[in-house]
Amino acid sequence: MDENAFLNFLNKRRSIRAFKDNMVDESKLSKILQACNLAPSSGGLQTFEIYHIKNKEIKKSLVLAAKDQALIAQAPLLLVFCANPSRSVERFGERSQFFSVQDATIAAVYAQLTIHALGLSTVWIGAFDEKKVSEILHLPQGQRPVAIIPIGYENEKPKEKTTRGSKDLLHTID
Ligand SMILES: Cc1cc2nc3c(=O)[nH]c(=O)nc-3n(C[C@H](O)[C@H](O)[C@H](O)COP(=O)(O)O)c2cc1C
Repeated sequence: MDENAFLNFLNKRRSIRAFKDNMVDESKLSKILQACNLAPSSGGLQTFEIYHIKNKEIKKSLVLAAKDQALIAQAPLLLVFCANPSRSVERFGERSQFFSVQDATIAAVYAQLTIHALGLSTVWIGAFDEKKVSEILHLPQGQRPVAIIPIGYENEKPKEKTTRGSKDLLHTID
């Protein structure tokens, strides 16, 4: 890969909050899941679960649990990434809580980038009531929702992006 190609790819990814009605092929979902399956994880234990929400009533409930963000129900494909510390608690003890949130987050980032690579769009939804989402999805005890990922074809042009700038991120300790 050209040394700028990946940065250019990242530069083109933007959060999209309006989707066309077009459905997303199962083959694209399969590619997204394959990418998630390749994500690094704590001890290689993949301490996350991905829920594919098809039910319309459940989608509406998720909108209410996420500050009325209607796009959750409008997206043709909806995934919820959850941490599952029970998969590593024997090995990592209390640290499995933190690791599993990181595992779910990394998997969701892999999904987000694959979505972009497939010509689809998404926005990371993190503003939700964790307890309500857990109840709506009937999550097993111990699992925690980390990110709601609505997926579809872009139906808006995002505003210009402002950032801190790469140099501001780095703190050198000599
Ligand atoms: C942890 C996290 C939580 C977020 N929660 C929401 C959210 O609930 N609703 C929303 O519209 N965007 C949400 N976003 C998206 C950010 O607003 C967006 O990534 C940021 O403004 C930068 O824009 P960009 O993704 O187009 O680069 C969230 C992003 C992250 C990483």
